[in-house]
Amino acid sequence: MQLKRLTNKNIVLGITGSIAAYKACDIIRMLKKEGADVKVVTTDNALKFITPLALETLSGNEVVKEMFPEHRVVKTRHISIAEWADAILIAPATANVIGKIASGIADDFLTTLVMASRAPVVIAPAMDYEMVTNPIYLENCKKLEKHNFTFVPTEEGPLASGAVGPGRLAKYDIILNRVLFSLQKKSVLKGKKVLVSAGPTIEPIDPVRFISNYSTGKMGFAVAEAAVIRGADVILVTGQVSIDVPFGVKCIKVGTAADMEKAILDEISEADVLIMAAAVADYRVEKYSGNKIKKSGDLTLKLKKNKDIINSVLEKKRPKVLVGFAMETNDSEKNAVNKLKDKKLDFICMNNLYDEGAGFAKDTNKVTIFEKNGSAEELPVMSKFGLAEKILDKVEKYFREN
Ligand code: CTP
Repeated sequence: MQLKRLTNKNIVLGITGSIAAYKACDIIRMLKKEGADVKVVTTDNALKFITPLALETLSGNEVVKEMFPEHRVVKTRHISIAEWADAILIAPATANVIGKIASGIADDFLTTLVMASRAPVVIAPAMDYEMVTNPIYLENCKKLEKHNFTFVPTEEGPLASGAVGPGRLAKYDIILNRVLFSLQKKSVLKGKKVLVSAGPTIEPIDPVRFISNYSTGKMGFAVAEAAVIRGADVILVTGQVSIDVPFGVKCIKVGTAADMEKAILDEISEADVLIMAAAVADYRVEKYSGNKIKKSGDLTLKLKKNKDIINSVLEKKRPKVLVGFAMETNDSEKNAVNKLKDKKLDFICMNNLYDEGAGFAKDTNKVTIFEKNGSAEELPVMSKFGLAEKILDKVEKYFREN
């Protein structure tokens, strides 16, 4: 399911003369897939690496490069594109273009556009590691950050020069995350501390076996990403999963339910919001075996109940907003409403494992959100990120009204 998080958004993609310019095609596709209208503006040097035909075919718009094109009367095109843009993304950005913008130089179409526009500007640099660590370059970045330009830090890895180090263009999903961040209107979550739990816990039986569940962490990770895009300070406490931690999120990896409880209790005092999306194992084995249990006859394991983490949180310090999840297979509504009350939650997101589009490991979910005031909203099948946005909208509304 495609999210189309940039629907009705106009994005200028500025491309400059770095070898990473070849990646601009993928960036255009990513922005278009998210629903954006994309206009490409290049420098002269960018077109030494990539052709206008490729860029125009993918963006569906004419590539703009010349400030004063011959044989054409184009009235103040830099102003009309500056007004058209909801955001300007420069990817890849060279040290040269960053230096020019930082110095107020506007000697080509792209730099003039940046000077003329009041849209947020996201800069994704790509260059050799000697350049990316150059103090003059770093000073220029600092200056632009002071003026609210958003930077997407370069990645470490093999560079075109053969060297290995920082300087590679950031991953596409991180660039997209920063574009979404730059487009956010003022959110009440900005600067708030949001604690999110995700994934399964594992309860070891012996050094080679454990009890766990099918949770993949996708829901909790989506909540963490949506919250960081809104400017929250996000701490993600996660069981063992195999997805990338969203850019800007502080991640604490845990194993057992007891580890998760400890990590959450360590962070809870400062938290404004706790969203418990983790599938916490309710039981652990009573006696862990330090040696591998050898196969003989049937094996009986005695299980002990784990503590309820939300309960422990309530005993220590209740954050302003507390959100839980309920994964049910039967009597879903009754069970969810009981959990909402018993765990003293503000919201509970109920999903039924047997509903089409819901369940573990999927990219979508189908949820009804119950509130402590008795209201309920049944949402259609939607992407987990889309659902994360809905949950955060409710959290924001709660902050505004309470
Ligand atoms: N939860 C928790 N600590 C536990 C178990 C669950 O904090 N030891 C949280 C979950 O993260 C979720 C909510 O409580 O937000 C409901 O979890 P769920 O597994 O649906 O319910 P349980 O309370 O475990 O009850 P049951 O397993 O009987 O449905």
